[in-house]
Amino acid sequence: MTSTPELNLGLRTPPASGDSRGRPTRLRVEHLDRPLGIDVPRPRLSWLLPAGATHQLAHRIRAGAWDSGRVEASGSLLIPYQGPQPTARERIPWQVKVWTDLGESGWSEPSWWETGLTARDDWQAVWIEPAEAQPPAPAGRRPAHLLRHDFTVRGPVTRARVYATAHGVYELFLNGRRVGDQELTPGFTAYRSRLQVQTYDVTELLQEGANAVGAVLSDGWFRGRHGFSRAADGFGERTALLAQLIVEHSDGSTAVIGTGPNWRSCRGPVLAADLMDGQEVDLRLLDPGWSAADDAGRAGPGWDGVAVGEGGLYEDFSRLTASPAPPMRRVAQLQPTSVTALPDGRQIIDLGQNISGWARLNDLGPTGTRLILTHGEALDAEGAVTTENIRAFDWTTGRLLPAGQVDKVVSSGRPGEVFEPRHTTHGFRYVQVEGHPRELALGDVTGVVVHTDLERTGWFDCSDQRINRLHEAAVWSFRGNACDVPTDCPQRERAAWTGDWQLFAPTAAFLYDVAGFSAKWLRDLATDQWSDGRVPNFVPDPADEASRRASPEGPMTGSAGWGDAAVIVPWETWRAYGDLDLLREQYPSMTAWVDYAAGQASARRHPDRAARRPEPAPHEEFLWDTGFHFGEWLEPGVAIDLDPARDRGDVATAYLHRSAQLLAATARLLGRNDDHERYQRLAQGARAAWQAEYVAADGIISPGTQATLVRALAFGLVPDSLREKVADQLASSVRSAGTHLATGFLATPDLLAVLADHGHGELAYALLLQDTSPSWLAMLERGATTMWEDWDGVDDAGRPKMSYNHYSKGAVVSFLHTRTAGIRLADGADPTAAAYRRFVIEPVPGGGLTSARAEHDCPYGRIRSAWRIEDGVFTLSAAIPPGTSAQIRMPDGARVDAGPGSHVLSCPAGAGSSAAV
Ligand code: BGC
Repeated sequence: MTSTPELNLGLRTPPASGDSRGRPTRLRVEHLDRPLGIDVPRPRLSWLLPAGATHQLAHRIRAGAWDSGRVEASGSLLIPYQGPQPTARERIPWQVKVWTDLGESGWSEPSWWETGLTARDDWQAVWIEPAEAQPPAPAGRRPAHLLRHDFTVRGPVTRARVYATAHGVYELFLNGRRVGDQELTPGFTAYRSRLQVQTYDVTELLQEGANAVGAVLSDGWFRGRHGFSRAADGFGERTALLAQLIVEHSDGSTAVIGTGPNWRSCRGPVLAADLMDGQEVDLRLLDPGWSAADDAGRAGPGWDGVAVGEGGLYEDFSRLTASPAPPMRRVAQLQPTSVTALPDGRQIIDLGQNISGWARLNDLGPTGTRLILTHGEALDAEGAVTTENIRAFDWTTGRLLPAGQVDKVVSSGRPGEVFEPRHTTHGFRYVQVEGHPRELALGDVTGVVVHTDLERTGWFDCSDQRINRLHEAAVWSFRGNACDVPTDCPQRERAAWTGDWQLFAPTAAFLYDVAGFSAKWLRDLATDQWSDGRVPNFVPDPADEASRRASPEGPMTGSAGWGDAAVIVPWETWRAYGDLDLLREQYPSMTAWVDYAAGQASARRHPDRAARRPEPAPHEEFLWDTGFHFGEWLEPGVAIDLDPARDRGDVATAYLHRSAQLLAATARLLGRNDDHERYQRLAQGARAAWQAEYVAADGIISPGTQATLVRALAFGLVPDSLREKVADQLASSVRSAGTHLATGFLATPDLLAVLADHGHGELAYALLLQDTSPSWLAMLERGATTMWEDWDGVDDAGRPKMSYNHYSKGAVVSFLHTRTAGIRLADGADPTAAAYRRFVIEPVPGGGLTSARAEHDCPYGRIRSAWRIEDGVFTLSAAIPPGTSAQIRMPDGARVDAGPGSHVLSCPAGAGSSAAV
């Protein structure tokens, strides 16, 4: 594989664990760095201890008018601000100093947060809808509209902010310049209940005298296509904009300019824009100065009025919210690796990497040139781009739907003209350009990588380049699916399927800071949860409960392993980031799901079981064997089976146990002792039911699929006395398949770990290094640069099969972090271990690796585990962040309790005793 030059990595240099000048560093507000427009009244503050400190004795925070004074406390994570509640638009500067074993630190560098518009009364702007031909064009063919307003700025400006959101996707311009660098705003949330407002600092964009504000507004997620069925108009039938500019002058006066009836609208050069279908632009229709202030007549001919949005959602300002996650941005740009001309003139651009985003083209040919850009993940036999593998089909008719991802542009011939669609996204590696009169060069096209601008927090590499490539592909798959929500794939569906994030979230937390990203999504999950506790299959769901229930997918709602995201994602987020308030906030959603599942288990019996055993056995109260479930999903060679009558009690009861157990642990953390006991009983009941049904007297488990065996071990479904036997059953299943895995979506993340934890470490590595299908390396050898949805990824005729960018199988890289490098939390349910305050470094060498290294920026700072084997000696170099402690477990069994700082330990690479060097 050729490596792809990444022009702008977007992967920031990670912060060091502390500051040599002896001050706290990396100040955070909630899960963000200097948030602008936050709406949390009393945000929680975090910092890293100064370098070299081992623990904190006390802290002192100065935030605005509030001085905490010296507070005797060891915590440096998510400490609530307790000063006066800030008013709207207030910037609170803050600093912290700490007392540690090193003594009193200096004050940290100052940081800040700024509140947004917090109350209904803060808004003077009203919602406006552009004038639009009625009835609107069919979905996918609807133009983006331009909105514009002229205003005057009287006197010097000291500070100016815009607060904006939309029904649709908007871009804002002030005096011809783009406002901010966020993409696909306002992002995707459960719009009926939660709509994100962006805050922009526009002080530098204003000028005294005449000014103009403009917006481009397209369908976005609000009324554009979404999901498998590509249904449109999910949240409404009109696009609309709400924006308010607040200008503060040096004389203390304030001017407010908001969307309102005096704005103008028109159809611009964007003839059609849809997130899934693509964007069509006629640049001959572009007035380059459409949002400039220089010409008062601009919003004249061709411009219509706007309608003021009234009633319904337009009246509900309580749903306006700030995002707890970073925004989407153009995070990196890729230069193509090749351009190939086909005999018919089509030109195929290869980015060398499957990404989510769009292509920028900077040579559009002479005036009137019509270009068609088709984006796909694979080439067909002729070398042209194919999108056959990413077509969905209409559930009701079985008819295949067009893949979309086609952009069209007509050149105006203006010098320096560039095409960059910002009202659509594509999942692609290849772009096919049709209609260009000349041969394109590598420099004519740029792959623009667009995703949530998450902070990178985890790295891994080792002596085997194949494993490093696998890790990189998993990282790219996550990047391709972090599109304000965790999507299943960036092309065919772009839906945030609950099961996919449930199984990948723990892995994502080894790679990026996903605390705010998950918290944001979980709020939507709770919002969209059905009245009976069921969790929609994907969140946000554009269909509300009534319409989803009535849709063909309605009866498929409530699947085990998918709905369990309601419990598992908050739990895993708490473990990785220590945010107990998130568990508190999600608690009603967590209990609603588990109560639903438990209710199904006790109220219903599978007809086959009832026929076999007319009188229910007592354990059946906890056996969940009815209802629709996706099951393990996409095991190699197993056909998709969506039969709602299928008995999937083995999977569903396993998840009932798992979620009830995590919920019991959550209840204990939150001090809800009654609930703790209730869910503990439920967890035990489900486990006993699972054993009664699926474990024979001789300890053999059936169904004996690898997935079932993995779950038995990973979820603790079998008694300790049977664990070894079950692990052996799993190992022999792997061996008898020629050292091949047979897991699908749900069990793959845990497969290698359970093998390694039960004495089959070398078999785990053999699976990892297996290069015939089904395996990870077979995917890479067939050219994958992201993880495939299907293990094979290619059908019998050699054609690409299913999506090439589903992160689920990439969850295997958690094995590299937690076992190969060996960094993991001490005890999953112990509050004193959360956020890696106490953790374990227990490397598992194997697979012929001679070295491996992982780094992890946990909330307390940088953890490092790096080992190498040289001359028969295994040497580990570990770094433990300030304020934390770790138990280092060497391969020879030696255990060392290690405090903050660097540690080097060694032992014979085989057996023997370890010794600190
Ligand atoms: C999606 C998945 C999802 C699944 C449900 C698919 O179409 O792409 O990733 O979890 O349906 O089984």
